[in-house]
Parts: sequence; C-alpha cells; structure tokens
Amino acid sequence: MQYAAMQQSAEGDSLGQVITIAQQKGGAGKTTLAVNLAVGFARQGKSVGLMDIDPQGSAGRWFMTRLETMADPGLEFSTASAWGVPYECRKLAERCDIVIIDTPPKADSDLRPALRAADLVLVPVATSHLDLWAVEAVLQLAEREGKSTLMVMTRARAGTRLAADVAAKLAEMQADVARAPMANRIVYAETLGQGKAAIETARNPAHDEVAALVAEIDLALRGV
Ligand SMILES: Nc1ncnc2c1ncn2[C@@H]1O[C@H](COP(=O)(O)OP(=O)(O)OP(=O)(O)O)[C@@H](O)[C@H]1O
Ligand SMILES: [Mg+2]
Repeated sequence: MQYAAMQQSAEGDSLGQVITIAQQKGGAGKTTLAVNLAVGFARQGKSVGLMDIDPQGSAGRWFMTRLETMADPGLEFSTASAWGVPYECRKLAERCDIVIIDTPPKADSDLRPALRAADLVLVPVATSHLDLWAVEAVLQLAEREGKSTLMVMTRARAGTRLAADVAAKLAEMQADVARAPMANRIVYAETLGQGKAAIETARNPAHDEVAALVAEIDLALRGV
C-alpha cells in the first residue's frame, strides 16, 4: 500500500483525502458502502463530503431523503459528471477531511477522473463469482493511475461455502482485501431507503462492522 500524502490547496491549507468507490459490476454495494462510510467517518468527528457521479443518482436520492428527515444531514454533498470530477472534488476536499466518491457500474475512461482524484480506491465485491470476475477491470485501471486499492467484501454471508470460496479467490489475487467485511444485513438495505446509515439505528451488528471498516480504511489512508 502506498503512502497517500495529504495535498495542499493553493492557499496552503491541507486538502481532505479522497476515497473513490468503484466496481464495474452493478449492485455490488458501492452506494451502500459509500453512504455508510460517509456517516461512519462523520461519527468520528471528521468533516465528510459525499460525491455522486453516477447518473442513476442513488447516493443523491439517499442524501435528499436525508435532508427531508434531518435538520442537519451531518455531511456535505455534491454531484459531477465524469469530466467535472476534478473541480468538484477539489472544492469538497478544501472543506472536508474526507471525500467519498460513489461511481457508476463501469470501468471505462469515464471512471478515470474519479480514480485520478483518489487517495484510495475501494472495490466492493459482493459474494458472487460475477463480482469477482468484474474486479480485474477496475484494478487494472487503478493500477494504471498508480492508485492504492482495497477490496471490501460486501453482502457476505458468513459460514457459507460461497463466501469461503470467494474469500479464497480474493486472497489469491495480488490485491489488498479489507479484513473487515460488510455482511449481508437487511439493516443496510432498510436504512439506505430512509436516508440513513446502519449505525444510525438501534444497536445492531452493523455498528461494529462499519467501525472496523472505517478504522481499517483510516489506516490505509495514512499508509499504515
Ligand atoms: N451489505 C448489504 N447487505 C444487504 N443488502 C445490501 C448490502 N449492500 C447492498 N445491499 C443491497 O443491494 C442492492 C444494491 O446495492 P447498492 O445500490 O449499494 O449497489 P451499487 O453497487 O451501488 O449498485 P449500482 O451498480 O447500480 O450503482 C440494494 O438494494 C442494497 O440495499
Ligand atoms: Mg450505486
């Protein structure tokens, strides 16, 4: 894992760090991971900006729902087209400690600006071989941009043969995999529709899961 140095803005202030979430396979859990990490980092006292560059606008819908139900969403939000990413991302990074970019299910040249802006690229892999086969494309693009990547197992069903098989195949790949998985839990799906994160509901196993993932990503961002 490479050391992601904190950049400086033109005024000399430090810029926040950028996490881009990418995976060509649709439905892998990119948006779910993005919003839960955003709230997870915010809960730790970090200022967080969430950016949606997916034309489907799922993270945007989540944020608008949040605005309708909460006086203070606790996060900043912005959208951009692929080519607008550098400008919008920089604006958010000037104000926020952490910027999280949710991307469309693609691995083509449109994804490049979001990868280029990243200090760390997270690649969610839902527990399926289809997801596993799709990771190569994003890993290659990220490597071409010289970016550190971390794969995150999502929708994991602990104890199943499929989960063990996918985990074993991930381990064989020359890529870092987060120790903390995001299990398949209905609370993630339910809270997404309410404009909330899973840690914003009554105590449930997702609380520890997201905290572990945030801690691990924090270390990765600091190059530890
Ligand atoms: N860990 C999880 N546990 C249970 N359900 C999940 C989990 N992660 C995602 N889901 C559900 O799976 C579906 C797809 O998730 P999500 O929208 O986050 O994927 P995505 O990769 O962003 O999809 P797209 O490629 O279309 O942008 C949603 O219905 C979501 O609620
Ligand atoms: Mg999405």
